[in-house]
Amino acid sequence: MYKNSDNYDYEKKDIDINLSTKIIGKNIIIFDEIDSTNKFLKENSKEIDEGTVVLAKRQTNGYGRRGNSWAGTEGGVFLSILLKPDKVINDSARISLVTALSIKKTLIETELPIEIKWPNDLLINGKKICGILTEIVNLDEGEDVLVLGIGLNVNNTHFPLEISKIATSLKIEKEKKENFENINFDTAKIIASICKNIEIAYYTYLSDGFSFFLEEYRKNCINIGKKVKILCADKNFEQGTVLDINKDGSILFEDEFGKIKNIFSGEISIKVDI
Ligand code: BTN
Repeated sequence: MYKNSDNYDYEKKDIDINLSTKIIGKNIIIFDEIDSTNKFLKENSKEIDEGTVVLAKRQTNGYGRRGNSWAGTEGGVFLSILLKPDKVINDSARISLVTALSIKKTLIETELPIEIKWPNDLLINGKKICGILTEIVNLDEGEDVLVLGIGLNVNNTHFPLEISKIATSLKIEKEKKENFENINFDTAKIIASICKNIEIAYYTYLSDGFSFFLEEYRKNCINIGKKVKILCADKNFEQGTVLDINKDGSILFEDEFGKIKNIFSGEISIKVDI
């Protein structure tokens, strides 16, 4: 998982050597620079096969949930996968949760303390290392497809000022932990492993549903039992406690007045520390 050189660039052949999947990553498109890998797949999803992976070394206009921008500087992984499940609209949110678990699985080898913040942010020591954005694309024929976008901070050393306090990378955290400079991760191996773990999880999800992952998700989610502040789609805040993760991937939430409700991921942003 580590690379014995300062050069943390990656090439398609290095991903291919490490890839052991049947569908995800069978077709890989790599750009040195693009505005957004999600946007590319959304615009070209008609002609592209399921499982195609689009990667960029740099992204100039990457975006995340709720219209936030996603920093696209070198060292990060910017990856989008085209998926064509039967019930796209139903499945989209839960595929994001399952993807978060898949990425966590890939990152176990780093021996870093990776946690999942509901619905699908991966954090190390309270800072974000990975964000996931699923987007539904409506094709002309009435068919919907899913673009699963992943931004993972691997060898990044700097972040834009506005996110420098809340973002981190595997490299920054590993160097801090080992008190040693110049640790570079092998990005190609990480990408191949992400494809493998997502492929396994995606097809398990399609056959067995989210219930297969529920216990694993509960174990890894930092929010259960914690007080949170949630930013609703209408920009209002609500405070309360996350009681549990429901079978459908939503959270069971008790607000400050004791009212219990289910909250779905599309609607909110969670602030952990209040
Ligand atoms: C979030 O946490 O808000 C989700 C961030 C998702 C970023 C990735 S990077 C690859 C893909 N292309 C994009 O423009 N966005 C996603």
